[in-house]
Amino acid sequence: MNFLTNLEENIEGKTFLIRLDLNVPILEFGKIENFSRIEKSLESLNFLQGKKAKIIIISHIGKNGEQNFSEVSKYFQEKFQDKFFFDEKTFDDFSEKKIGELKEKIFKKNGGDILLLDNLRASELELKNDSVFAEKISSLADFYVNDAFSVSHRIHSSVSSLPIFFQKEKSYAGILFKKEYKNLKKALEEENKKILILGGSKIKTKFPLLKKAVENFDYIFLGGAILNDYLKSQNFEVGKSRCSENNFSTDFLKKSGKIILPEKLIVEDGDGEKKVRKINEVLPDDKIFDNDFGKKGKDFSKFIFFWNGPLGVYEKGYSEGSLNLFKNLEEKNKIILGGGNSVSMFEKFELLDKFDFVSTAGGAMLYFLEKKTLPGIEALEY
Ligand code: 3PG
Repeated sequence: MNFLTNLEENIEGKTFLIRLDLNVPILEFGKIENFSRIEKSLESLNFLQGKKAKIIIISHIGKNGEQNFSEVSKYFQEKFQDKFFFDEKTFDDFSEKKIGELKEKIFKKNGGDILLLDNLRASELELKNDSVFAEKISSLADFYVNDAFSVSHRIHSSVSSLPIFFQKEKSYAGILFKKEYKNLKKALEEENKKILILGGSKIKTKFPLLKKAVENFDYIFLGGAILNDYLKSQNFEVGKSRCSENNFSTDFLKKSGKIILPEKLIVEDGDGEKKVRKINEVLPDDKIFDNDFGKKGKDFSKFIFFWNGPLGVYEKGYSEGSLNLFKNLEEKNKIILGGGNSVSMFEKFELLDKFDFVSTAGGAMLYFLEKKTLPGIEALEY
């Protein structure tokens, strides 16, 4: 894999397509909740700008193309002032005419200018890994950079197909990508025993990875919505808690003897009152919102923990369980944190600098821990 940091040739005036992960959480009233993914992308942008390359940013936001980059563009506008441009609705109709217009726009730009294209997922072809779509995008630039490690587990056009239309010496892993890759690889290679803490939602992505996780990790702490699914499939009452529609079989997890469950569950009862329950005492009208591992974390030392996803519904203020477990672990273990929501939560409590590494990747981190590679890495090495 070529790393952008090793690029030495003169790239003044050359055009770079850079795939970022600008999939940031947007609050109900339209404001960005957490800027860390955007801020961490700045290093590669500054690097290219310093070398006077023309920069085209591509990214997705949200699941299905309904959102756009108007809020994100305000951030960049403020940061890069008259060097920044935003092309709205780029992929709503990515026709030959549109591509021609874009090329003309780019031609007129100066070295160091940055053009943000709108949400890639506005075209369904992005999710389909359509190679013709990727080839069209590739025609806009001389070089390709993937600085979106956190999306590189997706077999999507901008990640998997796009680099293939550039010669090998013209496609690079960006600066953030390199950091994510090197830090996770190093942690995996260390001899210490490894534990996965799995919370949050996105169960469809996470559940299939658990099959391998029971082989790769010494223990797995379960929290968040994925714990609800686990309890449900083990015939525990979960009341009206959030569960996925799919019925996953979890017997392989139980049989592994590696699953660590919380001591207590924090629920809201039928009247919306907060209650603490034992795992086998949840009532049909309860909703599980958080959980507490008690002092369990204190039994572990010199482990490497990979933490993915909040243990409770932190958006509703349920962060206690995650914070308690973190306090019990942090002094005696290494902890690597991943996933947008986990990062937002710990950032709120100003705890991010207490982690050994904070990854922007959630699903991609889990995928990488399992397979030691990602589709986006394979495409860069193709
Ligand atoms: C993420 O938030 O994990 C990445 O941006 C990937 O998003 P996705 O799960 O919608 O593909």
